[in-house]
Amino acid sequence: MIKLGIFDSGVGGLTVYKKVRQALPGADIHYFGDTARVPYGTKSAETVTQYSIQIGTYLQASGVDAVVIACNTASAYAIDVLRSVLPIPVFGVVLPGAAAAVRSTSNGIIGVIGTRGTVASGAYQRAITELDPDMKVVAAHCPLFVPLVEEGWLLDPITQEVAIRYLESLMEEGVDTLVLGCTHYPMLKEVISMVMGHEVTLIDSAEETAVKLKEYLDDNGFVDEAASGTDLFEVTDLPQRFQDVGQVFLGRKLENVQQVTIVEGEE
Ligand code: DGL
Repeated sequence: MIKLGIFDSGVGGLTVYKKVRQALPGADIHYFGDTARVPYGTKSAETVTQYSIQIGTYLQASGVDAVVIACNTASAYAIDVLRSVLPIPVFGVVLPGAAAAVRSTSNGIIGVIGTRGTVASGAYQRAITELDPDMKVVAAHCPLFVPLVEEGWLLDPITQEVAIRYLESLMEEGVDTLVLGCTHYPMLKEVISMVMGHEVTLIDSAEETAVKLKEYLDDNGFVDEAASGTDLFEVTDLPQRFQDVGQVFLGRKLENVQQVTIVEGEE
């Protein structure tokens, strides 16, 4: 039996939860959404790192065997610190996404989209070029995608217009592979693919992370008993909005959502 902690700035990490749940049906999952302090994508590295340490420490104290940082911004800024602070394995979404992109590209031109923070951190760009220095990486931040997804406007003409505006420069650069480097973006795969052209491969960091996580657990003797695992969802603001938007993400009602408080400065 394995107990996993997954955290995000809010509801977006449910894209990661969904893939992890599919890969590990027997795992107990403790999901933490920091809805009182969302968004992370516009905050400084220091702030996001501090929040990540608080939540990682909280999850570890709750008894999880491993922590998954579902939030791309938190993965980009805080994974190294969190790994040094926590005595349990910590997984992020950046490296699995970067590795999948390097494997997938034919022309060596990879696009990365994410929050302002993720793009500014250079984490994906570094991870990709460390794996293969010949790669050219073109990155763009697409902040409006987050509220559009939360509004449920997944196939709306407005979303398509916004996507054209954001993705134009990447198309001009000739990317053949595009990393969806934000929790929310897998929800827009259809629109993004329509705009980029279906020949461009979209890399879903959430999916790649679940694959890596399962590989690690299998290799390290964690047994997934294939029984149905339990879910606990904790949020730092009122559960209602998390439940409403969560339904857009998962296509089902979320049970067992509780509000909790993390003490300021708790590390
Ligand atoms: N979860 C964030 C990410 O993947 C997006 C939302 C936010 O800015 O907090 O980067």
